[in-house]
Amino acid sequence: MELGDADKAKFLASQADVIDEKSVTMLMEAAALAEGKEIYTANCMVCHGANGEGTVGPNFTDKYWLHGGSINDVFTTIKYGVPEKGMISWKAQLRPGAMQKVASYILSLQGTNPPNAKAPQGELYEPGATSAPDASATPAVTDTTKTAQPTEVQK
Ligand code: HEC
Repeated sequence: MELGDADKAKFLASQADVIDEKSVTMLMEAAALAEGKEIYTANCMVCHGANGEGTVGPNFTDKYWLHGGSINDVFTTIKYGVPEKGMISWKAQLRPGAMQKVASYILSLQGTNPPNAKAPQGELYEPGATSAPDASATPAVTDTTKTAQPTEVQK
């Protein structure tokens, strides 16, 4: 039935818009990242530099983030902005799928070391399960005797 197909297409199109800061995932496909780069160049480059090196806004190529470096954090910052610090909210201008692509593109710049990189700002963010395993990201267990909680009552 034709209506069925139209409904299906409508459903799929609407799915692209249900991406939010909780459900967003990092896109790895070259085509999605290329689209992310276009969105970046048109909207973000002016404050974050042609290669994400940072100018008015922070550098995206290092591991330091003011508002968190997970895909969820980066999406949240883009969506809601930090208006009092000069980073606008993009949710009225970019669809969720576009914010996902540009967030993924930004994170794909990690470790690229562009010239004229702005000094790191914020806190060190160690990637979790969404990125390649990094042995140095495993927190050292400092005091194993403190892990047991004998006073805690099981329910
Ligand atoms: C008018 C300048 C301006 C534009 C345009 C701009 N930003 Fe920003 N952005 C900033 C500033 C300034 C900050 C730092 C906010 C702070 O100090 O908390 C920031 C912070 C961020 C952060 C958080 C970085 C961190 O260290 O946690 C992300 C992510 C970000 N911007 C993404 C984008 C994206 C994506 C776009 C384009 C869609 C964009 N920005 C466009 C100025 C801008």
